[in-house]
Amino acid sequence: MTTTDVIAPNPLRAGLRMQRTAPPCVLVIFGASGDLTKRKLMPAIFALAQMQRLAPTFHVIGVASSDWDSESFRNNMKAAIKEFSIPDDAGSSDAAWESFAARVQYLSGKFDDPELFQKLASTLKAVPGTAGNVLFYLAVPPSAIGTVAEQLGRAGLTESSPQGWTRIIVEKPFGRDLQSARALNRELHQFFKEEQIFRIDHYLGKETVRNVVVFRFANGIFEPIWNRRYIDHVQITVAESIGIEARGKYYEEAGLLRDMVQNHLMQVLSVVAMEAPVRFEGPPVRDEKVKLITSIRQLLPAGASNYDSVAVRGQYGPGFSNGESVVGYRQEANVAPDSPRETFVALKLMIENWRWAGVPFYLRSGKRLPKRVSEVAIRFKSPPFLMFQDVFPESIEANVLVIRIQPDEGISLRFEAKVPGTDMRLRPVKMDFQYGTSFGEQQPEAYETLLLDAMLGDSMLFARYDMVEAAWALTTPLLEAWEAKPPRDFPNYAAGTWGPEAADEFIRRDGREWRRP
Ligand code: BG6
Repeated sequence: MTTTDVIAPNPLRAGLRMQRTAPPCVLVIFGASGDLTKRKLMPAIFALAQMQRLAPTFHVIGVASSDWDSESFRNNMKAAIKEFSIPDDAGSSDAAWESFAARVQYLSGKFDDPELFQKLASTLKAVPGTAGNVLFYLAVPPSAIGTVAEQLGRAGLTESSPQGWTRIIVEKPFGRDLQSARALNRELHQFFKEEQIFRIDHYLGKETVRNVVVFRFANGIFEPIWNRRYIDHVQITVAESIGIEARGKYYEEAGLLRDMVQNHLMQVLSVVAMEAPVRFEGPPVRDEKVKLITSIRQLLPAGASNYDSVAVRGQYGPGFSNGESVVGYRQEANVAPDSPRETFVALKLMIENWRWAGVPFYLRSGKRLPKRVSEVAIRFKSPPFLMFQDVFPESIEANVLVIRIQPDEGISLRFEAKVPGTDMRLRPVKMDFQYGTSFGEQQPEAYETLLLDAMLGDSMLFARYDMVEAAWALTTPLLEAWEAKPPRDFPNYAAGTWGPEAADEFIRRDGREWRRP
């Protein structure tokens, strides 16, 4: 390493300490009339504009097949921001919206129509003050990603110019199995270099997930015990109380393993379990995540003919959610009455490296569970010798460190304490850190963080092609096995319960229990 390497300031790292502001650019959203644009993208962009994180010349071009014009797009987006912004972000006057909306326009057309892309090229040329920087956002179904990339390529819109950069954000789902994900990567790589591609996974933009890295590597006391010597097992739960809402068609195609586990849970797992990166920057952090995912043992245990000991799938039947009766998955709109699609998954993963050998990682996620809660629970081993067992015959609970991703974001540590009094009695208590009370600041929405990162060219929180493929390589054999053998017991859990009985049995066989967060 030369002296220059040591002292040269890294602009990305320096930027981390200051208020980050995006350079001038134009954001082109494909799929601008869709759900994601109105629920997440526009509220996030408007919030960034309100916080003055965007250049005053920042521009949005919405592109979709809906027969809208710029005026109707702006009206729809104004209504969407009112409906979906978190109150403080939306704490904006009509005047603020009007000044933002003056730089919002819309192009209508079909994604396979070269004329649309010619129109886009000339519109881009005419937009002032972008410094030649263009960010494409593909909020489109996976089947349209290749088409849009190709049309952009043919219209000469994919190359970064000497004056400015061109980048592309691709939404999930990124493929539906290993083969299709590889094909999609190949298609994108025909027109974009890997460093131009930002594969989004909004779980990585959540504050609490970002904080895992800080918690582990900015503190001296946790990392020494973050391994097989001290940790018994880890549970990662992403539970939702909602059902599939109006997304029957998509869910029939996808199922929960594709929708939640292959991406969100794998990303959370990778930050919890990866080795310390050599620097806090995109390439080394992403290297560590890929290393971690590729060191997970193939799911099917040696000699086993099915996945039952490592994976459980479930589907919700009718039941209750927040006190109201709700229909089962098979009664949802656009769902087959005998659908084999899973809405619940529990998995046991083993990581084959020196840090984690022998430590099971239990992952579970489901729709229509009793509540919305996402957390990582690290359960430590019990003390080697339990000297209190004679005086305190009930079982002594092991220490558990819980990272609450949402809601009620925070971190707590459970440990045993003596109950005050002359008797010797023990009881578990909690040391609790809560984001809300400790910082009193509103957390940014994941999409705000991620959009800003993409504009700044910071790829750390985006999935690289090999990470996506590694996660598919792990999950595809299970998907194929499940597809080849339709479940006989669906629906196997009632809406509003913690999933199928088989999920409880599966962890109990290991002498452990799921947490009830
Ligand atoms: C999306 C899934 O990626 O994440 C949805 O497609 C799910 O099915 C959502 O509801 C959960 O995100 P969050 O941020 O509400 O936990």
